[in-house]
Amino acid sequence: MKEKINRLRNKDLISIQDLTVKEIELILDTAKAFKEISDRAIKKVPVLRGKTIVNLYYEPSTRTRISFELAAKRLSADLVNVTAKTSSAVKGESLKDTIKTLEAMQASMVIIRHSEPGVPTLISQWVDFSIINAGDGSHAHPTQALIDMFTVREKRPVFKDLKIVIVGDILHSRVARSNIQGFTKLGAKVVLCGPPTLIPKYVEQLGVLVTYDLEEAIESADVVMLLRVQFERQKANYFPSIREYSKYFGLDIDRLNNHRDILIMHPGPVNRDVEVKSEVAESSSSLINEQVTNGIAIRMAVLYLLAQRSKKV
Ligand code: CP
Repeated sequence: MKEKINRLRNKDLISIQDLTVKEIELILDTAKAFKEISDRAIKKVPVLRGKTIVNLYYEPSTRTRISFELAAKRLSADLVNVTAKTSSAVKGESLKDTIKTLEAMQASMVIIRHSEPGVPTLISQWVDFSIINAGDGSHAHPTQALIDMFTVREKRPVFKDLKIVIVGDILHSRVARSNIQGFTKLGAKVVLCGPPTLIPKYVEQLGVLVTYDLEEAIESADVVMLLRVQFERQKANYFPSIREYSKYFGLDIDRLNNHRDILIMHPGPVNRDVEVKSEVAESSSSLINEQVTNGIAIRMAVLYLLAQRSKKV
């Protein structure tokens, strides 16, 4: 029988790279148990009562911010939302002073999203409480990858030899990096597809295959994950036009018709009719809304497990 663990080793969740296979499985199994709470009339358990969690955003977010908030509230923690635009960061306060201010207010955990890669790692060295990376630049988005692994596992429980295709703006995508790490650790085969300009050089060293042909990529795929074209991070013209991108790399119903068993995923937000046609995003093959629903259970699991681990709680 496979030996299970019941604790995470690290005080922080910064990257999927830092998790062992057993830790990933622990988080997914814990999320499975927590998912049921969201179906109850009273969606609350008292496991984090008395804890103060700060949800600190230096970049916009809908799904991550709200699902962390709902997750914390369903575990009975007190959660405070802070956006940089309405904080003293606007008046020139340093990141370190902001974090030390939260420490002085006895925060139990800080969830942070920032445009600069490495910020969660940096601040984790300044404090004893847990830091959760809610997305740092193009580096990592570990809870999104955990959601995606959880969502696939609900439909296809055995990962060995599953073909997961990730399509689009791999170069700027923290979701792609985290999913590559997660799915390959769990034994799936990962194939990347997109315009050559949006696929990082030497990415094969991460244990993935690369193709620039969407038809070839989706042949015998189990899952196709479309990525948002990150116009806000692109510092050059990576393809001639949106129309051309959509023609070669957008998923429409005609392309899907021969592959009806493929599961369609997208971390959101979606540029409708750029990376995926509405008819596909809303089809019975689409798991996009299930990914959002599962976001709450995964984030409940992460908050709960880090609270067990943290020195402060
Ligand atoms: N997937 C994701 O991180 O979405 P948000 O930017 O809305 O949080």
